[in-house]
Amino acid sequence: MNVFGLDVGGSGIKGAVVDTNTGEFVEDRVRIRTPQPATPEAILDTCVEVVRGAGWEGPVGCGFPAVIKDGVIQTAANIDKAAIGFDLGGRLKEALGAPATIVNDADAAGLAEIRWGAGRGVNGVVLMLTLGTGIGTALFVGGRLVPNTELGHIEIDGEDAEWRASDGARKREDLDWTQYAKRLDRYVTTIEALLWPDLVILGGGISKKSEKFLPHLNARAEVVPAEMLNDAGISGAALAGIPESSTITVAE
Ligand code: BGC
Repeated sequence: MNVFGLDVGGSGIKGAVVDTNTGEFVEDRVRIRTPQPATPEAILDTCVEVVRGAGWEGPVGCGFPAVIKDGVIQTAANIDKAAIGFDLGGRLKEALGAPATIVNDADAAGLAEIRWGAGRGVNGVVLMLTLGTGIGTALFVGGRLVPNTELGHIEIDGEDAEWRASDGARKREDLDWTQYAKRLDRYVTTIEALLWPDLVILGGGISKKSEKFLPHLNARAEVVPAEMLNDAGISGAALAGIPESSTITVAE
């Protein structure tokens, strides 16, 4: 079936009608700049604009950069603190007059990678990391998602891991690739000691340049770049938006 996938990011809110059998976009993607200030009400309005702009009236799945429980935003690491407690799911549903499911953005990207990308057909424990402004994580066990893992916020050397090892940190500190790879290696090996994943998928825009840092990583697990790149957030959100499905059972 077709579902509209939405991906809320710091700079843009993107969406497309997705064929949830293939993960492909049925029509061109729509993107609108994230409103500033990015208050929850303004984000909601922009999400509605993206969906309406595409002329879509059916079910919607939306990836959002926070912990989400029953459609309600629970955390705000890199977003407007006013978002905490906002019922984005309920409000989107009301505004669109259609089913709307909200999931964590990394969970959405991970769902797409597990279904169609680098994690396709892999059993065991798979960890997807999205390296952007922050670090998002999605954990799969036997193809099933454990939702809302926030492993980007484990503490390493007394600091929030995403502050040191995200792509945002690389840019902020103007790290060269060798320096950044060292940071990332420390992060991945720390997580590995806790979870022992069989496969680690590195996503986010930076995964396009994986040849710059992958060779420097010493993880025991296989570490591979994401295959779906920027589209994963939208396609995975659409999967989560299939009515009556649960995001923890989408794996086949
Ligand atoms: C947030 C996560 C989010 C990640 C990537 C982190 O700061 O806590 O919920 O998935 O950034 O956007």
